Amino acid sequence: MYYSGKRRGEDGIAAVIDFLLSNARLVLGVSGAALLGIATLAVKRLIERAGRPPDEKPDKKMTDSWEELNLVSASPKLLRKGIEGVVMKQIAAATKKAELSQPIPLPTPEPQRRRRMDLCAMTFAERLQQYYRTRVCLSAEEVCVAQQRALDIATEIQAFLHSKHLDTPLGDMMLAGSLLDDLQVVKADHACLIVPLQLESSLWTPIAGEDTFVGHPQYCMVRRENLEFFPRGQSYWDRHLLGVYLSSRLVSEQLGKAVMESMNWPSLSGTLECDVRPVLGSPELKLEIQGLSQCGYDDGERFYITILPTVRLGEMTLMAQREITGSFDYVWYQSLYTSETARLATLDKEDSEVRRKCLKTLKAVCRNCPALRKLNGSHLGNVILHMSEKDTDWSESAFVDRFLQAITELIGYLETGILPSYFKPNVNLFQGFTADDIDEMGFMLYCAVTEPEILLI
Ligand SMILES: *[C@@H]1O[C@H](CO)[C@@H](O)[C@H](O)[C@H]1NC(C)=O
Repeated sequence: MYYSGKRRGEDGIAAVIDFLLSNARLVLGVSGAALLGIATLAVKRLIERAGRPPDEKPDKKMTDSWEELNLVSASPKLLRKGIEGVVMKQIAAATKKAELSQPIPLPTPEPQRRRRMDLCAMTFAERLQQYYRTRVCLSAEEVCVAQQRALDIATEIQAFLHSKHLDTPLGDMMLAGSLLDDLQVVKADHACLIVPLQLESSLWTPIAGEDTFVGHPQYCMVRRENLEFFPRGQSYWDRHLLGVYLSSRLVSEQLGKAVMESMNWPSLSGTLECDVRPVLGSPELKLEIQGLSQCGYDDGERFYITILPTVRLGEMTLMAQREITGSFDYVWYQSLYTSETARLATLDKEDSEVRRKCLKTLKAVCRNCPALRKLNGSHLGNVILHMSEKDTDWSESAFVDRFLQAITELIGYLETGILPSYFKPNVNLFQGFTADDIDEMGFMLYCAVTEPEILLI
């Protein structure tokens, strides 16, 4: 039966519930509980919007579920209970039907719905390929110009350090990160420069964070050893000790003073013919470069370079990344980026680089979509690595399928609030996300399950 929709918002609610229930069947791959959680999140959003006049007329008849829910008088709590009941019932029914290997009925008249889905699938595959070519990938020239710019600046900084701080045992600065590894997307607008600290391996040991009171498996401390035979002062780096630990804050601060506060940036800008200046007020060592127009950039476009003091001890790469480690002055961040990128490249070598293509496309989608902006290369790369554990097809023809699979996998991880790091499963990459962040991402991705085009806007 059809309600007249006198009350504000009802029509919109009906349309969304219909939409939810049809999605429920399409994402049965995600566990029932996960699905239910995301569905109720969606309802929460919907309630928030219910005060506003509906901006669309429902194009379908309301389902029986509509009546069951008795939305007219429902409080948000009751509504949630109601939808849980309905969704549960639908899932149970759909699962039962699936077990009997019968086709799962869709809420709208079937042929009509099917046709629409086929059409979407076709155009979506094409649109995704087009998105990849035109929105995701950078031109070789753009990458080259940006890399050269970063290297020019590295050369200048290094020459300056050599002339003023010859005693500081630093290795050669190196370009690192997505710009180097062909993983940067949309715009070549950032780069990392690694500054290797040369530590005497006999005097320093890394202590994993989970073995200390810090308790974080991706944090690490660097302990000074052999103080009885090689007393304090024997190593250059002893001046940066806090207790018996090398302080990432003190190292960063010294480098900040030596480079950021001391180099003649206006003169360097003159030499390089672009405006280079340190970013003030960031805990990280960051440079902003502007006006690379003659190199192919538009005026006003900015390019950022982060300088990362880095310690290599054994297999570990530790970075002074104070934006991440915050107030822990003696803590270093163990970067898994290199291992993750290398593993993806190795796996990709066996087929046709579809993992990279998928990762870059997902990165671009998340960068371009405000609701998903918090998902970065590290989250998405780890999702692809987890997906690669299963025996799946990663050939070029599977690109669209893998892309869509990544979306449902992400929904599953968001629902539990946990995305385990591939190389350190006790690290939760979603740590630090608020419940609202998770709601927002979950809702967006959930909607994308039936309308993936919304991701390519
Ligand atoms: C991704 O974001 C997390 C914070 O959510 C941050 O710790 C991490 O360094 C970021 N990774 C990359 C590759 O930007």
